[in-house]
Parts: sequence; C-alpha cells; structure tokens
Amino acid sequence: MTYLSEKDLYRRYMEFFEIAERKRRWSVFDDLPWALADRTQPNADLALCAETFCAVESYMPDYVAEGLNLVRESFGQAWWHVNWGYEEAKHALSLREYLVRTGQRTAEHMLDFEADALSRRWKPPFPTIRQMVCYGALQEKTTWMIYRRQMMAAREAGDELLASVYRFISRDEAAHGGFYLDVIGACLAEDRDGTIADLYRVSSQFTMPAYDLVPDYERRVEVMRSIGINRAVFLREVFLPVLSRVGVSRRELGRAAAMNKAADRHTESLPR
Ligand SMILES: [Fe+2]
Ligand SMILES: [Fe+2]
Repeated sequence: MTYLSEKDLYRRYMEFFEIAERKRRWSVFDDLPWALADRTQPNADLALCAETFCAVESYMPDYVAEGLNLVRESFGQAWWHVNWGYEEAKHALSLREYLVRTGQRTAEHMLDFEADALSRRWKPPFPTIRQMVCYGALQEKTTWMIYRRQMMAAREAGDELLASVYRFISRDEAAHGGFYLDVIGACLAEDRDGTIADLYRVSSQFTMPAYDLVPDYERRVEVMRSIGINRAVFLREVFLPVLSRVGVSRRELGRAAAMNKAADRHTESLPR
C-alpha cells in the first residue's frame, strides 16, 4: 500500500512541531497553580477519574515503543511520534503530581498502582499505519472530550488546580487529534475507498487504549458512566464530528460496512 510521500509527512511534522514549540509548550512545574494544592477539597470521584487517566497515560512506554516500531522508516512520522510521547508523558506526570500534592493519594500508592498497571503490556489494536492513524484520530478526540468534561466538573467542584491540569492537557489532545485528522484527509485524497474501509473497521471496533489493563477497571468505568461518558456521547461529540471534519458521509461509511460484511461472508464460506 502506498502511504503518503515522505516529503509530505515531513512537512506536516515540521508544521505541527513548530506550532507546538512556539505556541503550545507548557511546564508541569511553572504553569500549573500548585499553590492551590494545600487548599484543594478531596473529591473521591474526580480523584478516581484522575487516577484512571493517569494510568492510561502511563502506558506511554508501550505507546511510544510500539508506535515507533511501526513507523521507524518514516522520518516525519517517527519524529512526530517522539514529540507526541513527550507531551503524553507530561499528562501522566501532571495528573500524578496533582493526586500526590493534594494528598488524595500517597507517592507510595502511585508507585504500586503504576507498577501493577505496567505489569500488563499494551499492544496496538490494529496492524497497519493507516488504521492506527484512524485509531489515533478517534482516540485523541475522545481523550480531548473526556478531559474537557473533567475540566468543567473540576471547576464546578471548585477545584481550580485540577481544572487547570485538564485545560493544558486537553489542549495537547486537541492538537494531536487535529494532526491525525489532517493525515486522514491526505490519505483520503490518496486512496478514498481504502481509507474509508479503514475508518469503518477502526470505528466499529473502537475502545480506548489500555482501559482493560488498568487495575480495577470495572469500578472505574462505572464512575465514568456516572459523570456522563458513554457510547452516545462518543457518537455525538467524537465520531460524527470526526466524519464531518474529514468530509466522509455516513452513507459512504455504510457502503464500507456492507462491503466489509460481504467480505466476511466470503471468507467464512471458504474451505478451512
Ligand atoms: Fe494524553
Ligand atoms: Fe494525546
């Protein structure tokens, strides 16, 4: 399969990196209002969500290693991925620091919790680069939506420190999602049918990364549902806006679904 020219990918990476360096950089140490930590009222649900997202972000070694392996021959993609990993690392760090500095978790608890989480390994859910680009777009946009909602919940609860953490990290997630959407746009221009087939396949099997690896996952999902994160919200705030942004209609996606089912039927009818 062809997959965009290296020149094009390099240009996209450089544009993303320049904006990130010039306009989006933030410091875990200097830009968050840590002075508020002592005055923060504990909130069990917000803390549990922060811990869950911290765990998901903590699979960064797997995300970076597996992703780099997949794109190692492409300068634009490999360098982009390393910058992305640096930004994701700050997300885990700021959530972790928030939990410890506000006294809602101890440093020892976080070490044990992360060790437990990382005793399981994340594997990429799809085999090709283009499918992982589609997955990246949906995953980043979902993460952005979740963090924006958490930011508002933190603000409502009077926790300005946590709201500030979510504000910075959701800005990064929006930029990551935007990059993947641009790449999907270029893929569509190159091979529309193939890219739509990938988009269908990924969306029909989509789950957030590593959630099933995080300790005590079922209880965490319950809390996330109770704060309004569910499949309907995913469709309305993530999936349909993604389709509209890349200019793919639901009809085109439906056609890809029908072709996929026909291909499955054909494969099932083959002698084993
Ligand atoms: Fe992140
Ligand atoms: Fe991200």
